[in-house]
Amino acid sequence: MDRVYIADIAEHEGKEITLKGWLYNKRSSGKLWFLILRDGTGTIQCVISKADVDEATFDVCGELTQESSLEVTGNVSPDKRAPSGYELQVTRVKAVQIARDYPITPKEHGTAFLMDHRHLWLRSSRQTAILKVRHEIIKACRDYFDSNGFTLVDTPIFTPAACEGTTTLFETDYFGEKAYLAQSGQLYSEASIGALGKVYCFGPTFRAEKSKTRRHLTEFWMVEPEVAFADLDDNMDLAEQFLSFIVQRVLENRSEELKALERDTAPLERVVPPFPRITYDEAVDILRKNNVAFEPGGDFGGGDETVISEQFDRPVMVHRYPAAIKAFYMKRAPEDSSKALGVDVLAPEGYGEVIGGGQREEDYDTLVARIEEHDLPREAFDWYLDLRRYGTVPHSGFGLGIERTVAWICKLPHVRETIPFPRLMHRLKP
Ligand code: 4AD
Ligand code: MG
Repeated sequence: MDRVYIADIAEHEGKEITLKGWLYNKRSSGKLWFLILRDGTGTIQCVISKADVDEATFDVCGELTQESSLEVTGNVSPDKRAPSGYELQVTRVKAVQIARDYPITPKEHGTAFLMDHRHLWLRSSRQTAILKVRHEIIKACRDYFDSNGFTLVDTPIFTPAACEGTTTLFETDYFGEKAYLAQSGQLYSEASIGALGKVYCFGPTFRAEKSKTRRHLTEFWMVEPEVAFADLDDNMDLAEQFLSFIVQRVLENRSEELKALERDTAPLERVVPPFPRITYDEAVDILRKNNVAFEPGGDFGGGDETVISEQFDRPVMVHRYPAAIKAFYMKRAPEDSSKALGVDVLAPEGYGEVIGGGQREEDYDTLVARIEEHDLPREAFDWYLDLRRYGTVPHSGFGLGIERTVAWICKLPHVRETIPFPRLMHRLKP
């Protein structure tokens, strides 16, 4: 008998089929067993009536435990109350393996316990819903760029130089030479626009983040577009189009998962262009008016970002940060050289920065000076400086952090639930 997935059950109404999966739950009422089966595509109730099956089949149901693997054969019958619209009237049950003492039970577990059992925790309905939303977000990122003329460029993970400052570098020995795990693919994307015009890179990035916050991982995924002949305003146009596309795509395709996560979708529906654009100085004014203690010139903390974003009903773009707190490659504002042409997109509902980017310094001499000011090793950037020697152009780009985006769209309390196997300062296992 052909194996059918629960997601496709409607195509088999009235037919006998076999489902393969894991036991999520079960209950009995004397002559009946109700098994809740999940197979990764959905869950379905399977009904075993003592009158319809042989004794061995009925008895096996008594032995099945949570997370036991099994194959169930039966007839697909409509059931209005069921989430899938169907249930299975079982004719045969085959246990593949009986799971003994599954550690995660329906009772409440602490975070540390769940994190230690992440390899099993993933099976819970909440976690599978999050993973499906994550998948949808990643697919939306690719679809957006693929259908807007961008070419995917895979950038290296072993790199000779820092992109986002030297304090969060992971160093590794590369055959006797020092190498660093990539903090960003940006410098290589900048090189690639000279060949391809509009590119994006998408991969894991690494930061030795010693801060334990709900927004920081040491390994996270970033998607980074880079565009030749684009200034800061073009970059903000792209960021708002892109982010809106992602959110709308999740609303369209993952309403079931958002419902399972009890996500209020009204704030997501408002995520459409144009997004408000404010300068860093205007953002500082907002903090002052809200009596937030903040030292102007510094970077915003999570709490500051929340207060700023609370003034708006959709993501807000903050631009022209003090150059002193931004990366070496950022172009300075022509009207005020103490400001950088950088932009952060702050998500609503307290999620803070999900996108960081800006216009890049395209002038050779200025960039050399910046590399010196930032105490970066000139030799490691020789190739990067070449880009300013041979046909340099104004250009811009940004990076969107996938995990922060997932946390926001799913409204999760911490980024640790947004990636299958999170890497945090004190977490390398499983
Ligand atoms: O603002 P960041 O550091 O920007 C860059 O890396 C640029 N080179 C990107 C570019 O212009 N191509 O990081 C970009 C985004 C942040 O807005 C945030 O969403 C995410 O990456 N991010 C992190 N996410 C999880 N854990 C961390 N430790 C993160 N650090 C940054
Ligand atoms: Mg940033």
